[in-house]
Amino acid sequence: MGKNKRKKFAKVKEMAHVLEPPFKEILKQDYRLKGKWCEEFGNSNPIVLELACGKGEYSVGMGEIFPDRNFIGIDIKGARMFSGATEVEEKGMTNVRFLRTKIDMIASFFAENEVDEIWILFADPQMEKPRKRLTSMLFLDRYKHILKPGGTLNLKSDSTELYEFTKDESIPEFNNERPNYRFEKEFDTDKLYEEGIQQLDETMQKVMNIRTYYEQMWLDQGKSIKYLRYTFSKP
Ligand SMILES: C[S@@+](CC[C@H](N)C(=O)[O-])C[C@H]1O[C@@H](n2cnc3c(N)ncnc32)[C@H](O)[C@@H]1O
Repeated sequence: MGKNKRKKFAKVKEMAHVLEPPFKEILKQDYRLKGKWCEEFGNSNPIVLELACGKGEYSVGMGEIFPDRNFIGIDIKGARMFSGATEVEEKGMTNVRFLRTKIDMIASFFAENEVDEIWILFADPQMEKPRKRLTSMLFLDRYKHILKPGGTLNLKSDSTELYEFTKDESIPEFNNERPNYRFEKEFDTDKLYEEGIQQLDETMQKVMNIRTYYEQMWLDQGKSIKYLRYTFSKP
């Protein structure tokens, strides 16, 4: 690890709104805030997760747009969270937290129906390892416990493979194989900025215009952006 990265890593560790539970502890028992996130935020506002948040642009950006919702950015890489976590500190935002952990362990962090929305932004398409994709059946099975009925799953991506895999393979397969659970497609565009965005209301257009580090990189390379939104139902 470079010196600069080490510095960021150390600084992030000191921030009260960055939570870094040791893996060993989580393997032994669920995280102390599982089912109690409302105590951490001091209110019972809806909980929104930004998975694979990187620098956390959506947690910060949506945190400003929706002060009456709570946002948790989750990523395994602590140094990347530095910029989002610093912005939250500087702006004195109280509705954003960062959680450094593996998304694979998400069931240890959130209770049944504790989460209102999941956002996955520019996740690695994992071309060689489909099971590691954050919208694979393996991950959808994890989300189905924590996501509330009526909750939403949002995917924004530059990757045609991840977009098509999600909408044509993994979600249809999930809906078939888990008949009591269902992700219903609510919004679908493979040309977000060229045409899709005009169909969204003003607030959602603002949300769509938050740019993550990876999104900006793909836009600079001329890639078109895809966006999928699903509403979740369960018994
Ligand atoms: C391509 S980057 C995208 C970051 C950010 N969303 C953006 O758009 O700039 C993917 C991120 O996913 C994180 N990641 C991938 N798989 C993960 C997992 N299973 N658990 C936690 N983080 C993961 C990586 O650490 C990395 O920061």
